[in-house]
Amino acid sequence: MSKIGVIGAGYVGLTTAACFARLGHTVVCADVDEAKVAALSRAEVGAHEPGLAELVGEGLRAGRLRFVSGNAEALSGVDFVFLCVPTPTGVDGAADLTAVHAVLREARDAVAPGCVLVIKSTVPAGTTERVAELVGRPDVQVVSNPEFLREGHAVDDFLRPQRVVVGAEAEEAAHRVVGLYARTGAPALVTGSASAELVKYASNCFLAMKLSYVNSLAELCERVGADISDVTEGMRLDDRIGASFLEPGPGWGGSCFPKDTRALLSTADEAHVDFPLLRATIGTNGHQPHRVVSMVRDAVGPLAGARLGLLGLTFKAGTDDLRDSPALAVAALLAEEGAKLTGYDPCVSTDCGPVRVLDSPEAVAEGADGLVVLTEWPEFAELDWPNLAAAMTRPIIIDTRNLLPGDKVTEAGFHLIALGRPAQPLIQDQN
Ligand code: NAD
Ligand code: UGA
Repeated sequence: MSKIGVIGAGYVGLTTAACFARLGHTVVCADVDEAKVAALSRAEVGAHEPGLAELVGEGLRAGRLRFVSGNAEALSGVDFVFLCVPTPTGVDGAADLTAVHAVLREARDAVAPGCVLVIKSTVPAGTTERVAELVGRPDVQVVSNPEFLREGHAVDDFLRPQRVVVGAEAEEAAHRVVGLYARTGAPALVTGSASAELVKYASNCFLAMKLSYVNSLAELCERVGADISDVTEGMRLDDRIGASFLEPGPGWGGSCFPKDTRALLSTADEAHVDFPLLRATIGTNGHQPHRVVSMVRDAVGPLAGARLGLLGLTFKAGTDDLRDSPALAVAALLAEEGAKLTGYDPCVSTDCGPVRVLDSPEAVAEGADGLVVLTEWPEFAELDWPNLAAAMTRPIIIDTRNLLPGDKVTEAGFHLIALGRPAQPLIQDQN
C-alpha cells in the first residue's frame, strides 16, 4: 500500500482521497480552504454525493485519511501526489492552469526523490510534458491520470471505473499509478501523456456532441409530428450508437462539459485544426435556454408579470451543484422578460439569482401561470397533479426533461408541453 497526497478537496480531490483510503492506501488531502478542511476533519461533507460522507468517516476513523490546510504535508514524504485543483475557463476559452502551476511550483522543492506527480485535473494535451520541464526534477516523474467520475455517482465511478487511463513518457511511473487502482479490477490503458489528456476531452466533448445532436433532433420532432422518445428508442437499439446520453433537455451544463468543450476548441484553434462539429455542439447548446423560453412564451403568453414556478435548479438530478446549470440560464432569460419566478429543488434551499426558492412543488404551483420542469429529479414524476392544477391560476406545464407521466398530467387538467413531442392544442382552443 502507498502513501498518497491529494491536493484539492473538491468533488474530484475528496472522492480520490476517500476512495484511495478505502482501497487501503494512506492519504493526506490538502486544500487552501481552511473552513472546508476543518469540516472534513469532522467528517462533514458539504457535497451531495452518495456514499462519500461514509467513506470519509471510515477513512478518518481508520487513520488512513487526514485533511490539512496548506499543501506542504501532502507533498512531502508521500509516494504519489494527485493534483485535483480547478482548471476553469480562462482567456479565449482555454483552460486556466494557474492552480496547477502554483501547486507544481510548491511541489518542485517539496517532494521526495522517486515521488510521482499525478495530474488528475482536466488539462489540455501537452500540459503534462510541459510541466515536467517546469518541475525540472529528473528524480520525479509527472504523469497524467484523467478522472471520469460523474457528480452524483462519484464514489461508485471511482471504485468501479469503466477504465483507468494513465499517460506518461516514463512507462514505469505509469504502471506504478495503474497499480494504485489494482483492487478496482478496471481495465487500464497506458499511453503517452498527450493522448491520455486528450482521452478526457475527447470523451466529454463526444458526449456533449451527442446531446446537442439529440436536442436539435427534438426540435425537429416538434415540427414534423414525430416523438423524440420513440426516435431515440429506435436509435438505442443500435449497439453502434449506444443507449445512453440520448435524453433531450434544456441544454447540457455543469462544471465540466461547458468548460471542456471550449477548452478543446481552443486547443484545436491553437493547433490550426478546424473543428466545426465542436463549434456547432457549443452553439447548439447556447440556443437551448432560448428555445425553452420561447416554448414557455408560446404556452403562457407574454412573460412580463407572468408568475412561473420552476421545478429543478441544479444542472442535473442527483447533485446539489448549480455551476453552469441550464435551469439557471433559463431562469435568467425568463426574468429578463419580466417573469416573476419561484423555484423548488430537493437540493437547493437558498434563493438563486432571480428565483425565490420555496420548500415544495405545491408552494411553487400556488397561483402560478405555468410550471417549467428543468431538472429530472425522479420525484417530479410522482406529484399530486390534480392538487397542483387546482392551486395554479392556469394549469400549464412545460416539461423540458420528458419526465412527466403525460396521461396523468393531462387527465388532471394540465396543458402539457414536452420537449420533442408534437404540440397539443391549448386547452382554450379545444372549446
Ligand atoms: P472543485 O472546485 O470542486 O474543487 C477544487 C478544490 O481545489 C477546492 O476545494 C479548492 O479550494 C482547491 N484548491 C484550489 N487551488 C488550490 C491550491 N493551490 N492548493 C490546494 N487546493 C486548492 O473542483 P472539481 O470539480 O473537483 O474539479 C477539479 C478538476 O477535476 C478540474 O480540472 C475538473 O475539470 C476535473 N474534473 C471534475 C469532475 C467533476 O465531476 N467535478 C470530474 C472529472 C474531472
Ligand atoms: C461529466 C461526465 O459524464 C463525466 O464522465 C466527467 O468526468 C465529468 O463530466 C467531468 O469531466 O467533470 P457530470 O458533469 O457530472 O459528468 O454530468 P453528466 O452526468 O455527464 O451530465 C452533463 C449534462 O448533460 C447535465 O446537464 C445533464 O443534465 C445533461 N444530460 C446528460 C442530458 O441532458 N441528457 C442526457 O441523456 C445525459
